[in-house]
Amino acid sequence: MAAAVRDLIDTSRDTLRAQFRHDVLTGLSQPRKAIPARWFYDHRGSELFEAITVLPEYYPTRTETGILMAHATRIGRMVGAQHHVVVEFGAGSATKTPLLLDAIWTAGYVPIDISGAFLHESCDALAARYPELPIHPVEADFTRPVALPADLNAFPRLGFFPGSTIGNMEPMVATDLLRSMRETLGGGSLLLIGFDRIKAEVELVAAYDDAQGVTAAFNLNLANRINAELDGSIPLDALAHKAVWNDERARIEMHIAATRDIAFDVCGQPFAMKRGETIHTENSHKYDPRSADTLLLAGGWEPLQGFGDADDKFMVILARAMGDEQTA
Ligand code: TRP
Repeated sequence: MAAAVRDLIDTSRDTLRAQFRHDVLTGLSQPRKAIPARWFYDHRGSELFEAITVLPEYYPTRTETGILMAHATRIGRMVGAQHHVVVEFGAGSATKTPLLLDAIWTAGYVPIDISGAFLHESCDALAARYPELPIHPVEADFTRPVALPADLNAFPRLGFFPGSTIGNMEPMVATDLLRSMRETLGGGSLLLIGFDRIKAEVELVAAYDDAQGVTAAFNLNLANRINAELDGSIPLDALAHKAVWNDERARIEMHIAATRDIAFDVCGQPFAMKRGETIHTENSHKYDPRSADTLLLAGGWEPLQGFGDADDKFMVILARAMGDEQTA
């Protein structure tokens, strides 16, 4: 490998470590400890997440896939006969993206992801399956407006945001993201977006606290990472995974709880947790059709049609970017 390329990789690795260090030290210093969920996803974390998606208790992935399969024809009919550029926010998921690409007329596929590695992996898989389809990966942070490849400018756009990832954001952040997607895609564009629905607490909690302990391992892997990468001394035997339903906010929260009073260091800085104290690591907001519509409208998207499953577990909504015209 050329020295310049190696330097570049080392620099980005150093920047990433500095950000991880900053987020962990800041998060552990707050009165209510919290660490951003993005740090779950190292190699092991990504593997564990893949395992979560096939757990018997974790219904969202298979339910959303089922909805896309069952309603592919209707979705295709609503999108219409024009060729659209499909812009996926996050690297394409191997099972869901083809369901959409097969359902509509495509002029190109543009996945946007912050991780170049993920991006290229998923593009290779799709390129093998769709040799004729122009694929233009964009390595960028999709929470901000992104410039799309100019040679696809002539075509209307369809944004794709599956996985109920919108639910992992607080409503204010989710609204900003929807507005920024509207800016990226332009007025009149379409968006196909997945929302997980509010349902019985036992079912929700089980999805985030499975019997095999895979979600627990995923959550606690964050403490492993801190010990390994930030010279941490967190006693792992004193940590427990906790998934709780916060009814006021209509969200599942994941926490790492201390099972006894503990003290530890991270990057030479001392921290302590009382027994029962937690580090908040993730939110997964749940919606009903009205609250999802309201969120979309706040973000500049007019809901056109919702698609669901027989048990009302999950919904996929097709929306259109509102213009800047004045309304009454
Ligand atoms: N958006 C999905 C959800 O909230 C996927 C997800 C994100 C997730 N972080 C997670 C699933 C943590 C389990 C645990 O369900």
